[in-house]
Amino acid sequence: MPQILITGASRSLGLALTEEYAARGWRVRATCRSPAQAEALHALAQTHPQISVHALDVSAHETIDQLAAALEGEAIDVVCNNAGIGGGGKGLGALDYAHWSEVLAVNLLGAVKVSESFLPHVQRSTEKKIVAIASSLGSISTTRGGNYAYRTSKAALNMAMRSLAMDLKESGVIVAPLSPGIVDTDFTRGARMPKISAAESARGLADTIARLTLEEAGAFIRYNGETVPW
Ligand SMILES: NC(=O)c1ccc[n+]([C@@H]2O[C@H](COP(=O)([O-])OP(=O)(O)OC[C@H]3O[C@@H](n4cnc5c(N)ncnc54)[C@H](OP(=O)(O)O)[C@@H]3O)[C@@H](O)[C@H]2O)c1
Repeated sequence: MPQILITGASRSLGLALTEEYAARGWRVRATCRSPAQAEALHALAQTHPQISVHALDVSAHETIDQLAAALEGEAIDVVCNNAGIGGGGKGLGALDYAHWSEVLAVNLLGAVKVSESFLPHVQRSTEKKIVAIASSLGSISTTRGGNYAYRTSKAALNMAMRSLAMDLKESGVIVAPLSPGIVDTDFTRGARMPKISAAESARGLADTIARLTLEEAGAFIRYNGETVPW
């Protein structure tokens, strides 16, 4: 049975990805920072025995090391860095640097640390893939300004994933940042724009991940397979 590890699986897109992979017959290591409060995830795990719930806060590196050690020797086919935060923060003239640091710690450093710590597990697997849920808001060429913390975290995440892809290509590990589309989740609540459901995004992301080849390693790809401009 192929195996995936997903961060931020407590709700929204991470929960939908957990459900999608479980439905596809994968073993899912569904990780979240507060398992005791992840009711929806536990309810899903009740109906899908191949889902196991694990504590992992991507900004607390010791929790990443602990889980990597607990799963030592396991083969993890896909590591999916989904956990992310945004919001908050004011505009130019009132930038909140403490908030900005938190966003970088979760969206950028957390994803890199998870990728680094679980690399041995990925290298032991058949599929050998590491992906990060990036964002078109991290695109440098299409930025419309504002949202400094989130945009820079996702732009830097793209660079980190592309650099990882270059470093790991020779060993057969495929790394890519993926854009999920504009998804109807807690994150986009209140934003008035056309959105797709978390289930649709998760389905598209899983299809895209399944199609990823070494030749595409380091590309920035949308959930529906389109290339996103850097
Ligand atoms: N929704 C969109 O349209 C959209 C578009 C582009 C990119 N994205 C990206 O897609 C990913 C998922 O977004 P979403 O819409 O599902 O967001 P969401 O509704 O805000 O959910 C965020 C998830 O990340 C988890 N999380 C936050 N900080 C964490 C930490 N330190 N350690 C572990 N987990 C943490 C949350 O866990 P708790 O339950 O513990 O808070 C929650 O499960 C994010 O990386 C986001 O930037 C989303």
